[in-house]
Amino acid sequence: MRSSPTVRLDLNTVPRLNTGALDAAWRASPPDVLAQYPGPEERALKRAIAGRLGLRAGMVGIGHGSDELLDLAVRALVPYGGSAVGIEPSFSMYPRCLEAHGGRFVGIPCRRRLPVDQLARSPADLTLLASPNNPTGTAFSLGSLERLLQRTDRPMLLDEAYAEFAGHDAIPLLADYPQLLILRTFSKAYGLPGIRVGYALGRPALIRRLERLRGPYSVSTFSLRAARAAWDAPEYCRDRIREARTERRWLFPRLRAQGWPVAPSSANFLLLGPVASAAPLAERLEAAGLRVRRLPPFPSRPGEHLRVTLGTREQNLRLLAELGEHRP
Ligand SMILES: Cc1ncc(COP(=O)(O)O)c(C=O)c1O
Repeated sequence: MRSSPTVRLDLNTVPRLNTGALDAAWRASPPDVLAQYPGPEERALKRAIAGRLGLRAGMVGIGHGSDELLDLAVRALVPYGGSAVGIEPSFSMYPRCLEAHGGRFVGIPCRRRLPVDQLARSPADLTLLASPNNPTGTAFSLGSLERLLQRTDRPMLLDEAYAEFAGHDAIPLLADYPQLLILRTFSKAYGLPGIRVGYALGRPALIRRLERLRGPYSVSTFSLRAARAAWDAPEYCRDRIREARTERRWLFPRLRAQGWPVAPSSANFLLLGPVASAAPLAERLEAAGLRVRRLPPFPSRPGEHLRVTLGTREQNLRLLAELGEHRP
C-alpha cells in the first residue's frame, strides 16, 4: 500500500497550487514556441503587472524567482564587500547573498516594531527588509517604513513575498521615494513556486540597474506564460488569501490555548517558539506525515523555533492534533 505523501508545511507555499494557470499556459504553448528563446512574453507580463498596479511598464523588472532579483539587487546596489542592514531574525538568504558579494548583512534585533532609529543610523549601503517578515510573520506599518525612507536616501530593498496575505503593501510609497525597490513573487499567493518568477517594482533607473546585470533569457517562455495566466486570473489568488487568513484566525488561538508560544502573523505561516526540544518535535511531526521547518538558532532570542505554514483546514486539524499530543 502506498503511504500518503508528506504534507509540506515547511515551504510557506499555499496548500492548493495553481495548476489552472499551468494548464492554461500549457494549452497556449505549442512546442515550436517553447523550443525557441523567450520572445515578447516578458514585456507583455511587465505591461500587465504595471497596468493593474497603476505603474509605468519601466517600473517593473522580472526575474527567475525573487531570489534572482534579490541577488541582482545586492550586486547592483551594494559595492563589492559592502553591507546591508535589516532586522534579525529575517530571511536566511539575506546574509548568504551579501556574503557571496564579499560583504555582510547586519541584523538589528526586532520583535514587533521596526527599529527605525537604529536602521537609519547604520552606515550600511542598503536597507534590506521583508514585510511581512520571514520567519516572524510581522508586517511593518506604512508609517514606519516611510519614516525610515525619510531618514536615509540609500537604496531600500523591501521584500514583499508575503504582502498579499497581509492586505497592505508599500506600493503607494514608490511615488515619493525613488530609493525604494519592492520585490514580489509568483511563488506564494499565486501558487506557482515551481515556475520561478518574481518581479521587482521601482523607479525605471533602479530597475535598469538590476537588468543590466541579468542574462537576457533567465526566465523561460513557459514560466512567463504561466505567470501571465496567473496574473490574469486573480480570483485564484483572492481565494488563497481568504483561505490563509481564515486558517490563521482559526489556528492561532488554538495553538495558544494548547500553551504554545506563537507570534501573531500577517503571513501564511506561524512562528512557534521558543519550544523545548524542537528537533524531536519536528521528527514526531514528520513521522505523522507533517513536515515543518526547524529554524537555526536566532542570535537575538533564546531557545529553538519552528515555522509552520498554514495548510488546508484538514491539514491544520492534523497539525493541531499532533501538537496537542506533545504539549509544551
Ligand atoms: C521573504 C522571502 N523572500 C523571497 C523568497 C523567495 O521567493 P522566490 O520563490 O520568488 O525566489 C522567500 C521564499 O521562501 C521568502 O521567504
